[in-house]
Amino acid sequence: MDFQNLKLETREGVAFLTINRPDKLNALNVQTLGELEQAVEALERDAAVRGVIVTGAGEKAFVAGADIAELAVLSPMGGQAIARRGQTLFERFERLGKPVIAAVNGFALGGGCELALACHLRLASENAKLGTPEVKLGVMCGYAGTQRLARLVGKGRALEMLLSGDPVDAQEALRIGLVNRVFPKERLLAEAEALLRRMLANAPLALQATLQAVNSGLEMPFDEAQRLEASLFGLLCSTADMREGTQAFVEKRAARFQGQ
Ligand code: COA
Repeated sequence: MDFQNLKLETREGVAFLTINRPDKLNALNVQTLGELEQAVEALERDAAVRGVIVTGAGEKAFVAGADIAELAVLSPMGGQAIARRGQTLFERFERLGKPVIAAVNGFALGGGCELALACHLRLASENAKLGTPEVKLGVMCGYAGTQRLARLVGKGRALEMLLSGDPVDAQEALRIGLVNRVFPKERLLAEAEALLRRMLANAPLALQATLQAVNSGLEMPFDEAQRLEASLFGLLCSTADMREGTQAFVEKRAARFQGQ
């Protein structure tokens, strides 16, 4: 695939998706959003991709937000449309059905923070700064940041970040559960890959069902979510991988999962 502002390469089942516009700190302009739509479609379709790592090019930023030059000239309807477009795009990452890890290697601000929030896990470098500074520009989160941040770190902490616009550093992000782990920046990608590969050693359909149970279940009443969990559990009992996983345990050997 030919991208101007992205790099996408797959090595042994892991896709590395890099937002590649470092002179603008990887800010998400319309061109980049369009390329991300193509990339996520490829990630959805490519069965050889079993997990994804999203990161930013350069030394300073994961993604420093939506492109402020484009933001400045948005009409009301244009603003609503771009927000819906970004929300739909980010939701496709969340609903990919395979684990997606954000390797937050610097500034993750505004839309960059929202992209990281749509990923299943966030690992950060020690120099990372995450925040939602949109209110300083007279707007607010538009790519579901108000919803995902509040769900992840709780309403009070989310509102502190959303209303102050102040970023948090990696240690504070770790403390409030906004990121899962923090690493020196030179180790971040390798650690993200190692964690993802540990996940990918497990049964693919079990990973997919777990993501669905958590993503969909959290939006349901508890009892309905439990029923969904039970249905997915039952479905997994029909898989060859369930037979292989349990058999491998009995035979004291590593399981060889086929995703079937
Ligand atoms: N949109 C468009 N361009 C952006 C950008 C954004 N969100 N964030 C950074 N850039 C551009 C800068 O304009 C600058 O471009 P230039 O060299 O052509 O002038 C380049 O990226 C480097 O940024 P700079 O501000 O010089 O780097 P810095 O290290 O001094 O500051 C930040 C880094 C992240 C603190 C600062 O760039 C910033 O505050 N960015 C905006 C963050 C934001 O509000 N995001 C939410 C948008 S809704």
